[in-house]
Amino acid sequence: MPDEPVPLFNVQIDGVWHQFPKGTRVIEACAQAGIFVPRYCYHKKLSSPGNCRMCLVEMAMPRLGPDRKPELGANGKPMINWMPRPQISCAQEVSEGMGVRTNSPLVKECQRGVMEFLLINHPLDCPICDQAGECELQEFSVEYGAADSRFLENKVKKPKAVQLGPRVTLDDERCILCSRCIRFCQEIVHDDVLGFVDRGSHTVLTAHPGKRLENNYSLNTVDICPVGALTSTDFRFKMRVWFLKETKSICTSCATGCNTIIGTREDIIYRQTPRENDAVNSCWMCDYGRLNFDYLQSENRLLAPHILSGGKLIAAEWKAAIAHAALQLRHFPGLEIAIIASGRMTNEELWLTTQLARALDVQLIDIVPRTAPGDDILLSEDRNPNTNGARLLGITSQPSAQLSDIAQAVKSGRIKALITLHENPIDIGVSAEELSNLPAFIVMDILANAVTDKATVVLPSFAFAEKRGSMINGKGRLQRLNRAVRGPGNARDDWEILRDLLQELGGSNGIYSIDDVFRQMSESVPELAGLTLSKIGDLGIQVLRAPGPLGPPVDAKAKDIEEAEAKKPSARSN
Ligand code: SF4
Ligand code: SF4
Ligand code: FES
Repeated sequence: MPDEPVPLFNVQIDGVWHQFPKGTRVIEACAQAGIFVPRYCYHKKLSSPGNCRMCLVEMAMPRLGPDRKPELGANGKPMINWMPRPQISCAQEVSEGMGVRTNSPLVKECQRGVMEFLLINHPLDCPICDQAGECELQEFSVEYGAADSRFLENKVKKPKAVQLGPRVTLDDERCILCSRCIRFCQEIVHDDVLGFVDRGSHTVLTAHPGKRLENNYSLNTVDICPVGALTSTDFRFKMRVWFLKETKSICTSCATGCNTIIGTREDIIYRQTPRENDAVNSCWMCDYGRLNFDYLQSENRLLAPHILSGGKLIAAEWKAAIAHAALQLRHFPGLEIAIIASGRMTNEELWLTTQLARALDVQLIDIVPRTAPGDDILLSEDRNPNTNGARLLGITSQPSAQLSDIAQAVKSGRIKALITLHENPIDIGVSAEELSNLPAFIVMDILANAVTDKATVVLPSFAFAEKRGSMINGKGRLQRLNRAVRGPGNARDDWEILRDLLQELGGSNGIYSIDDVFRQMSESVPELAGLTLSKIGDLGIQVLRAPGPLGPPVDAKAKDIEEAEAKKPSARSN
């Protein structure tokens, strides 16, 4: 049965009539009408307790006639009666004939009053507070507050730098008791860990006795805390937020592909925060993925290409390393070559890998599965971010299907040349000794591992935040990675390495940019037809039927809608 249409209600906001669907909260109706109502406790993904009072507005209800129906004025709209007292706009839903005033003298007086109360016991911490630069208390104080305080008593002192859990630090004096963090843990994570204790000005946020804020989503409380009460233990005091360059990208630590903003300065990542995408991660991301970037600064980063010469790996120029790798590979027929690729590679890199396999007539090619317990919130059991890309591009039908054959063929000596791309062959059961016996062992990777020194050619490549490209998440959504920092040393972007190797083996292939790679890939993969990296947009496009990995492509109309959505400007997120 088709869904019943949602009724539309006529609502007057600041003198102008609008229509909103039933169920819209008044604060959201105002936002849709282009009017921002200040708020602290309200968050669009959480329940509305209405406890901060920052969103007070004047409200009116329609005047009812003897038949209990709204009386209509000369303009055909309901006549309204204003309530004498202000009302909160975050917990109330729109109704037929409602009136709202967001900027009347009464509303402005209420906003000034609420700000004055909130600041009575707030410490004058701003110069040393990590939230400075993105603090709603500072911002609203300027926009809606008064310049001075009438409070002459000593401020109440509360606990400072409390470790609520392994990743979150609490400064109770700064807490404005909005309860967003409490509701997030209860409603999203189902981990009832935080609460308020004591009364009045002495109320404090704390973890329940015997509990710690240590769930895998704890850092989202830092994101939604409107003030500097909750801070990330990893990020605090490391960098002023106004120095951070922000790059929209995706997390590559599991198949969910949460949308992120990467905060960087001078080619160093300082933090990752979630970016809203209701088709993927709502407003959240897990702590595991959020903090998984330190390895980009690891001492083990491979910084220059190397080739085996005289029994030792020596640094080489890129041209010489690529030529050496091609020379080694040309020695062997396809049946004696195997490729271990990775579900961590982008579609563009995987597509070039398929071209490499074709050029060398390689039959043994696969990716290494990577699984760990997931949860029913965001974290996927599949810790490879692009298993679906590897399937779609024909690298593997089922990850690991060919891995034991590859390991066996290396052990038996049938494979003479092994190419590993972002994977360690030890993980599939090949020993270091067997690897050192290979006439050609070509390694493209980010970090050195226990067997990198057995390679005949080492090709240092880029990590997720150092490159552009696309991936297909576990639900079939094509999403885009963007470059946030430059790669270190003499490492290179993976697509360039693979392109150069292909050109060395087979001559020019007309690929001069990552966009050329995507274009050639989209011409040969029906699910990607008509797309470009730019068309993917910030929110991605559904290209496979969710949740199966290889359903038929979505129809063209759905694709158009996705594209139109991706082009919409994003609204203020909370
Ligand atoms: S710590 Fe932050 S999010 Fe939690 S109640 Fe206090 S102000 Fe609100
Ligand atoms: S759920 Fe997966 S994609 Fe999302 S932040 Fe965690 S590891 Fe990253
Ligand atoms: S935002 Fe409405 S009461 Fe807090």
